[in-house]
Amino acid sequence: MAQKGEREQWGTKIGLILAVAGNAVGLGNFLRFPVQAASNGGGAFMIPYFIFFLLLGIPLMWIEWGIGRYGGKFRHGSTPGMFDVLWKNKLAKYFGTLGLFMSITILIYYTYIESWTLGFSLFSILGLYSNETRETMTNFLSSYQGITESETFTSIWTAYLTMLITFVLNFAILYKGISKGIEKLAKIAMPMLFIFAIILAIRIITLGTPDPAYPMNNVESGFAFIWNPDFTALGNPNIWLAAAGQIFFTLSVGMGTIHAYASYVKPKEDIVLSGLATASTNEFTEVILGGSIAIPVAVAFFGLTATKEIAAGGAFNLGFVAMPIIFGSNAFPFGEIFGFMWFLLLFFAGITSSVAMGQPVVAFLEDEFGMDRKKAVATLAIGVLIAVQFVVFFLKFGFLDEMDYWAGTFGLVVFALIETILFMWVFGADKAWKEMNSGGDIQIPKFFYYVMKYVTPVILMVIMIWWFIQSAVPTLFLYNVPEEKIPYIWSARILMIIIALILIWMVKKAWANNKHNEVI
Ligand code: PHE
Repeated sequence: MAQKGEREQWGTKIGLILAVAGNAVGLGNFLRFPVQAASNGGGAFMIPYFIFFLLLGIPLMWIEWGIGRYGGKFRHGSTPGMFDVLWKNKLAKYFGTLGLFMSITILIYYTYIESWTLGFSLFSILGLYSNETRETMTNFLSSYQGITESETFTSIWTAYLTMLITFVLNFAILYKGISKGIEKLAKIAMPMLFIFAIILAIRIITLGTPDPAYPMNNVESGFAFIWNPDFTALGNPNIWLAAAGQIFFTLSVGMGTIHAYASYVKPKEDIVLSGLATASTNEFTEVILGGSIAIPVAVAFFGLTATKEIAAGGAFNLGFVAMPIIFGSNAFPFGEIFGFMWFLLLFFAGITSSVAMGQPVVAFLEDEFGMDRKKAVATLAIGVLIAVQFVVFFLKFGFLDEMDYWAGTFGLVVFALIETILFMWVFGADKAWKEMNSGGDIQIPKFFYYVMKYVTPVILMVIMIWWFIQSAVPTLFLYNVPEEKIPYIWSARILMIIIALILIWMVKKAWANNKHNEVI
């Protein structure tokens, strides 16, 4: 039952914006974006990317702030309860369960990756890597992950320890709550992140041509690669799909986390400008800062062809292999310090996002089960710490990738489609429009009314249908997957099914125990 008493609230407007920006700005901006851009044609990628920012990203951001603030009025901080008030149907809350499923699944693997950034920031300052080659650095990373052995790491335990530390920090912040935990973290971590990113970007922009023997390998060629539009590649649907996926992931839309944060906004407080401010901050950080670091410097050191190859070789190669080689090379003075900044910046970006993934579940346990925060955080912690063991120990068998595929790529589109239809069609476009604009410092341009009602859902449906035709069968039945990985991939799927079933059962139980939807 909805608890009586004060519901938590954000302390200040700037704190709220920094927290939601912290939610959106994450590893996606500095690691995933450059990899996606480099492996999808650079300038060719940026065109669909901006189109989808306008037609999916911004509208979904407002929709989620709208649903979130509205749900908060009924004391719901997670999407099962929010969907239940939008649509008076027994099924609504089960659709909302997806918002919990995605947040918790992404939290499980994302926080592990985040912990590597903490580890690597220490390895940088300690000078544990220097004068590395692609081979030695790849081995450094994989030995840290417990996949191989090296002189530096003979077992997985360093990684395990950094993982534990990272989780403890995350849960401690969640335990402190909205304004004293998450908001405070954002007020410290976000400015630091911007300062580090700006310093790194300036250092890289002024790097020129590190090796005169290779005059084409310079920072300018890196920028030219991302910024020269390539219209010929636009016929390739994969590039469009990758761009849509990146917009979702980077803005944290389609996961249930924006809703949770928005539920702690005061009922009459502006969300129009705040939504826009967070989306723009994220894009500035991604395109301007994120786009000025990894790709340009990798092109300057390795050349364009090798950079594309590195990016195509795996999601972490650019950030955890190429970047340390560069920082550890003699051509990069004070590399230890810049390396430290790079990884610490990633850590700050990561932790302000991972706490956001925990909050919907904490809110769910508090709001729908009446748990106090301590109990809610402890419950989440136990569940997540059990699940993360598989991710840590089965990394090389593609366990993490499988979770990322369903929760971090596929699920977002499904969830976004459901919420758009619920809000704009079931709840009603006119009501939804009024709800989003109420209390607004500015009004949303009318253009977006039509986008949210027609364009966004149609694009989402096209993406789903396209996926179904193109990839459903090979993905589901694991065509082209090496034999030895198959059992692990199935275990990842079973784990996700178990998580989903537990959540569905909990939702059922919460609704059976309580009378919901009383307006307070
Ligand atoms: N948007 C975050 C990033 O760019 C990732 C994220 C996913 C955050 C899910 C919250 C929820 O890294």
